Amino acid sequence: MHPYPLEPTAAEMHSMGQATLALVEEFINGLPESPAADLEGAVELADRLRESAPEAGAPFSQLLDTVALASQKAINNSGPGFLAYIPGGGLYTSALADLLAAGFNRYVNLAGMAPAIAQIEATAVRWLCDLFDYPADARGVLTSGGSMANFSAVVAARKAKLGEDFSRGVLYTSQQSHASCAKAGYLAGFPKARVRLVPTDDSLRMDEAAFAAMVAADRAAGLRPFMVTASAGTTNTGSVDPIAAIGELARANDMWLHVDAAYGGPFRMTEYGRKLFAGIELADSITLDPHKALFIPYGTGALIVREGARLRDAHHVAADYLQDMEGLEERIPSFSEYSMELSRDFRGLRLWLPIKLHGMAAFRDALEEKLELARYLHDELRAMPGFEVPLEPDLTAVAFRYVPDGGDADAFNQRLLQRINDSKRVFLSSTNLGEHFVIRACVVSHRTHRDRIEEAVRIIRDAARDLAAHG
Ligand SMILES: Cc1ncc(COP(=O)(O)O)c(C=O)c1O
Repeated sequence: MHPYPLEPTAAEMHSMGQATLALVEEFINGLPESPAADLEGAVELADRLRESAPEAGAPFSQLLDTVALASQKAINNSGPGFLAYIPGGGLYTSALADLLAAGFNRYVNLAGMAPAIAQIEATAVRWLCDLFDYPADARGVLTSGGSMANFSAVVAARKAKLGEDFSRGVLYTSQQSHASCAKAGYLAGFPKARVRLVPTDDSLRMDEAAFAAMVAADRAAGLRPFMVTASAGTTNTGSVDPIAAIGELARANDMWLHVDAAYGGPFRMTEYGRKLFAGIELADSITLDPHKALFIPYGTGALIVREGARLRDAHHVAADYLQDMEGLEERIPSFSEYSMELSRDFRGLRLWLPIKLHGMAAFRDALEEKLELARYLHDELRAMPGFEVPLEPDLTAVAFRYVPDGGDADAFNQRLLQRINDSKRVFLSSTNLGEHFVIRACVVSHRTHRDRIEEAVRIIRDAARDLAAHG
């Protein structure tokens, strides 16, 4: 007899479940006071975790302790002080959904295996389509993240516009777009020279005139421009490309318009976002990342396609051993026919459960709050002597730097970022804009509220003052 059998007894299941839930609750309830980063000893801990598979098992409580410690020794991306990159958060209710999904372990990707489970995911995907007023024949898939969604978008566009021979195809995205937009083109088989990075204007939005000129030049050279990816919120600064104008040009040239709305997409549920993203409803496809501005835990991206059949055309490959599963397509999609994946986790529950439980209004209110917080942060930084804030935020990312009286500004700002993060109350990241190193703060998490942003302003101001005075 093994002391820890593969199927625990009912009593053991109960006690392991309770201990796990208690740990997660304690972690989440402690987030407001926990450090924004705690990396001391993290690499040494990682070293200790390199081991061969044990022949005999160990007590569950001991393993929970290991997971808790490994999670603690990290940048605290779930906490209210995390303002780096594009924050997420991770809803508790989605964590419960994951437990349910894995507990029942239903097969979601073939509708015939569990029709109602597949429909729950299809309903969640439809809600994403509704966010952009997509028609009834739109379809979509939940992916592991925005990068995979951008990749599948290129595959769908390539098939729709170029068919089997894509040797003359060219795709476009801006110099400020997320690296996954260009990477998707490379991995979908296009040489680097056929993935064009369009320059941006002063607001770091795609320069429409430059885009038009590049398309015209490529056509004149006998190439076939077939796709453009616009950003609805760049990672660097949240800048939103002129989607309507890019779309018009794309349609005039028989090109596929994809919008990478991995960061900004959910903001369309606000009145402000609706105006900001004008024209997105005509996009052929849109990437979303519910693990960003819908606060779902990591592992939840989405691709939605206006004319759903196009996505299926690019991905469906029949197999004899799946013939028993055919026949529901008219009513419930089999997601494996719309993506590269066959067996996978039931991602839809992570989205469906919280939206059903909290209601869309709770998400809309949270996003309105983030927009206000970013404007507040922008105004405060702009008013502080010595600070340069180059852009009004389109969304919730604010890039800034301090310009010291003399010396190397980049080196100063690198030290400033370190000081800010040493506070352990907020955690920011950096990027480069033009020639300059800049610090950026991005407000997305549902756990970040006014008190933390006011504190961030104080931390940034005091750190800059201290550094300017004493080095
Ligand atoms: C605009 C944008 N697109 C795509 C991605 C890639 O998404 P993921 O990290 O989910 O693969 C990101 C990630 O930050 C992003 O900000």
